[in-house]
Amino acid sequence: MLRLNEASLGARVTSDDVTRASRASGELLAQVQKGEVCYRSSLGWLHVDEWASVEQLVRIAELASRLRAETDTFVLIGVGGSNNAARAVLRALGQPDSTHQVVWAGNTLSPRALNEMLASLEGHEAVIDCVAKNFETLEPGSSFRLLRQWMSAHMDASQIARHIVCCGTPKSQLEKLCTDEGYAFTTFPPNVGGRFTAFTPVHLLALAYAGIDIHALVQGARDEERRLRQTSARPEDNAALRYAQIRHLAWEEGMRVELLSSFEPCLSGVSLWWQQLFGESEGKGDRGLLPASAQYSEDLHSLGQYVQEGTPLLMETLLDVLEARESDRLVLGGTDVADGFDYLDGMDFWDINKASFHATRAAHARRLPCPTIELERLDEHTLGELLYFFMFSCYLSARLLEVNPFNQPGVEAYKQLMFRTLRGA
Ligand code: PA5
Repeated sequence: MLRLNEASLGARVTSDDVTRASRASGELLAQVQKGEVCYRSSLGWLHVDEWASVEQLVRIAELASRLRAETDTFVLIGVGGSNNAARAVLRALGQPDSTHQVVWAGNTLSPRALNEMLASLEGHEAVIDCVAKNFETLEPGSSFRLLRQWMSAHMDASQIARHIVCCGTPKSQLEKLCTDEGYAFTTFPPNVGGRFTAFTPVHLLALAYAGIDIHALVQGARDEERRLRQTSARPEDNAALRYAQIRHLAWEEGMRVELLSSFEPCLSGVSLWWQQLFGESEGKGDRGLLPASAQYSEDLHSLGQYVQEGTPLLMETLLDVLEARESDRLVLGGTDVADGFDYLDGMDFWDINKASFHATRAAHARRLPCPTIELERLDEHTLGELLYFFMFSCYLSARLLEVNPFNQPGVEAYKQLMFRTLRGA
C-alpha cells in the first residue's frame, strides 16, 4: 500500500498545518470523490472500471496476444497523454520479455530521432498503433504518415491493414481513414483527457503487448480508488488530499517549483508523466507550482547545489521504494588494492543507495518541505496505486488553486503560429 510520509516536512509547512487545511476542505473532497457535475465530461477516469473493467481487459489482452503472435515490435505513435503513462510503466518495470519490444513515435519532429526510430524497426515485424484523441496534432499525424510509408516499402500491400491499429475519437478524420483503409479502430474514451488515460485502452494495449500484467496494474488503481474515494473516512486521513494540501500550502508560502526526485533511474518515466499531469492541469491563470524532476544520485552533483542553496523557490517530493527485488541486490566485494573505499567492503548497493537517500532528504529538509511517497515495492500493483494517487491528488490540487484541471488552452498558442508557418496561412 502506498504511504505518504510527512516526517521530513520541516518548519515552513507542518503536518499540523496540513491536518488543519485538510479538515477545512472536507466539502471539496466530498465533491471530488463524487465527481463534480461541472467536470462530468472529463471524469471517465475517476471510476477505474469505467474503461478498465475485467471484460475490457480481457478484450485488450486478446487483441494484444493476436498482435504478439504476428509481430515482434509495437510502435506506439502518440504524444503527451497519448504515450506518457505506457512509457512510465514500461520504464519502471522494464520490458518483461526480450522477444517483444515497444518503440515510441509521434512525440518528436526531429529528423535524426525519426531516422533512429525507423532504423530500430529494420529486421522486425512491426505493428503500429496510432493514438490521437484529436487527430490534428502534428507530431503523431506526421509520424503516422511516415510509418505507413515505411510499411508500404517493407510489406505486401495486402498485409498492411493487419499491422495497423488506431485509437481515436469516433467520427474523427482518424476513424474515417481507418474505415477507408481497413485498419482496426478502437475508441479513445471521450470522457477522459489524455493525461488522465493511464487506465484505459489508450495505454493498456501497448502494455499488454509488452507482457505487463495489466490486471495487476489496474487492480492497484482500483485499490487506490477505493481508499481515496472512501467517503466515511476523515478528510485529514485522505493521503491524496494531504499531498494536495502540502503543495497548496507550499504555494501559499511562496514556493514556485516542486521537484519530484527519486534514487531509482527507472522512475524517470513516472516523473515525465507526473510533469505533464500537473503541468497541464495546474499551470494556468498565472498560477501553479512548476513540476520539475531530479534523478539522483546524478542530479545531486548538479541540481543538488541549487536545492540546498539556490533561490528558495522549491519544495521537493521524494519517491521511495521500500522493498528490494532480487534484481535490486548487488554486493560490493573487498579488494587488496588501496582505493580509499574500504568502508564499503561487503555492502549491498541497495543499502548504499538508501544511505544516500536518507542523507539527502535530511539535508534538503533543513531548508524545504520534503514529503515522501513510499511504495512497498516496484511492481504492477504499486504502480497502479501510484498513478491513480497522483491523478486524484492533481484533481484536488487544481481545485484548491481554483483552476480547471481538465483543459490546456495555453498549448494552442505555439500550434497556431506553427500552422501559420507550415500551411502558409
Ligand atoms: O492531456 C492532454 O489532453 C494532452 O496532453 C494530449 O494528450 C496531447 O496534447 C496529445 O493529444 P492528441 O492525442 O489528441 O494528439
